[in-house]
Amino acid sequence: LQSLDGTGKLSGKTVLVTAGGTQENIDPVRYIGNRSSGKMGYSIAEAALKENARVILVSAPTSLDVPDGVEYVPVDSAEGMQEAVNSYYDTTDVVIMAAAVSDFRVANKAPQKIKKMETMTLELVKNPDILKGLGELKTHQLLVGFAAETEHVVEYGMDKVRRKNLDMLVANDVSKSNAGFNVDTNEGFFLYPNKEPKVMPNMQKSELARYIIGEVVELLASK
Ligand code: CTP
Ligand code: CA
Repeated sequence: LQSLDGTGKLSGKTVLVTAGGTQENIDPVRYIGNRSSGKMGYSIAEAALKENARVILVSAPTSLDVPDGVEYVPVDSAEGMQEAVNSYYDTTDVVIMAAAVSDFRVANKAPQKIKKMETMTLELVKNPDILKGLGELKTHQLLVGFAAETEHVVEYGMDKVRRKNLDMLVANDVSKSNAGFNVDTNEGFFLYPNKEPKVMPNMQKSELARYIIGEVVELLASK
């Protein structure tokens, strides 16, 4: 694995990072969310800034401070995130989709706060796959995805690399209690369409972020 520590290797490059967990409204005061903290994406944004990239941070709500120097684009839902990401895509060199995008949204959002009742059913519909859409429209961009898997990490991950036309996938093994959602460390594999997987040992998300940016620099150079 390659790591970097601030030598300006992304000068002149625009890196768009998504972060956090999307929120899908149920009614004016409630939403469906997930346990993503946003730490991975924010760490990547910081690592890319250190290499002098222009960094666009498209973020679902988190409790983190926005890193100084990023162009911050706050969003809530998957559809909002898709609109924001698509609007920057033409002028972006690297997209790193670290956000935990809700696979579903509520079919019919209630215009008023829903009152309590004995039982209730929410109908969900599938959200757009932001990254797959980018893969279909890819021209010069480098696309990096994330996946959290509890089993068959390489096999399921490689399937996502192909389906979404990715240049790299960070496949987290979240069957380990010290990896993934709402913890400070990750472990798993870096996967590529035409290269052998690289083992990603358990490490802090901030350190992993520097490795990911190191890989991005290498992939850009070999394009
Ligand atoms: N992703 C996305 N849009 C979605 C769902 C996921 O852009 N609607 C992105 C994520 O940000 C991540 C990658 O796709 O970079 C993989 O997400 P993941 O949830 O692992 O994949 P899915 O295709 O949703 O498959 P599943 O949840 O069924 O495993
Ligand atoms: Ca998913």
